[in-house]
Amino acid sequence: MNHNISEIRKDFPILNTVINNKKLVYLDNAATSQKPIQVINKLNDYYTKLNSNVHRGVHTLSGKATDEFENVRLKVAEFINVPNYKKSNPIIWTKNTTESINIISMAWGDENIKENDEIVVSAMEHHSNLIPWQKLCERKKAKLKIFPINEFQELNIKLLNEYINPNTKLVSIVHSSNSMGTINPIKTIINQAKKVNAKVLIDGAQSVPHMPVDVTDLDCDFLVFSAHKMLGPTGLGVLYVKEDVINTLEPHFFGGEMVLDVSYESATWNDIPMKFEAGTPNIADVIAFGAAIDYLNEIGMSNIRKHELELTKFALHLIEESKFLNDNTVLYGPKNVSNRSGVLTFHSGIAHPHDLGTLLDNEGIAVRTGHHCTMPLMKYLGIPASLRASLYIYNTEEEVSNFIKCFTDSLRFFENV
Ligand code: ALA
Repeated sequence: MNHNISEIRKDFPILNTVINNKKLVYLDNAATSQKPIQVINKLNDYYTKLNSNVHRGVHTLSGKATDEFENVRLKVAEFINVPNYKKSNPIIWTKNTTESINIISMAWGDENIKENDEIVVSAMEHHSNLIPWQKLCERKKAKLKIFPINEFQELNIKLLNEYINPNTKLVSIVHSSNSMGTINPIKTIINQAKKVNAKVLIDGAQSVPHMPVDVTDLDCDFLVFSAHKMLGPTGLGVLYVKEDVINTLEPHFFGGEMVLDVSYESATWNDIPMKFEAGTPNIADVIAFGAAIDYLNEIGMSNIRKHELELTKFALHLIEESKFLNDNTVLYGPKNVSNRSGVLTFHSGIAHPHDLGTLLDNEGIAVRTGHHCTMPLMKYLGIPASLRASLYIYNTEEEVSNFIKCFTDSLRFFENV
């Protein structure tokens, strides 16, 4: 399949939905992506033909479900290019990106962070990549350092040596900002962290769905992301841990599945990765996620990045032509388009983002308004909230033009009230 949008759109039934008598224009992909029929069918097939528990039964259904479930773990490892994953697969299923980060803050953090150690996050982190580290630093009397950003919401990379230094034990950084669309130079950050022996966690929630991400090439210690932002079901997250680190980790949750032998007094653990997955896992959603990975692979992650970059350039061109940007109405994010994802975030002093978002909704256009779970960043920028349009594989130039036109009209409307 090449990136034939009209063919792709046919696979997404929800895109035919009518909202306020207008055809839905779905531009809230950073919150969650829509699902192709292949994923919806897979979920339905699982419950109608395969439903049974995994790793437990000698019966045929359980064996088939286990094979499909484990096959998706292999697919995900291949998708992010995990080294030697056929020998030992370090992909752990979680509930979402947030849970993946919380697990590492406890399972790795509580064992490895000591008083006065430094943990570095950036000023653009989602709450999920900030609060777990605040709490860990509180528990351990360690220091949380906030890597500053410049006026285009990019990391102030000149400060790299100052912020990532021999006191740094962990750098936990977002690859692509959910609220500003900044793509961070994570390779440079990882290289600096290696020089000072710090571990690196990459929050890939907004990058893995949109561009090739290769953990062998990056050499990061942890990568976390969520299925629902990449055509898969909600309630499923991924935690990748590099081999030499995962071998040192103790499980954080206890119960069935994760054990090898149990007595009334004690227990020993199952192999990696099962020792980190206590209880019945999210079987149906893992199996349906496999169909999402197949779908993305068929289009190709480089093609997806190319499509979103072209649409972003098109949007930036229309924004310039519409001439609504000024001191009062701002578009955030890097000036260099190759450092941008398909996230376009605005704030206007003319109207509250919720009011602008409501006018767009009247036109069938779905955007997100609010603080996007980055309250400290909003406070730093001095704004209460912003309006965010975020693109994905099925969005078209026509939808982008429609959004820019309706956004311009909404600004004009409030200018004249
Ligand atoms: N983190 C998601 C967003 O940015 C929910 O909208």
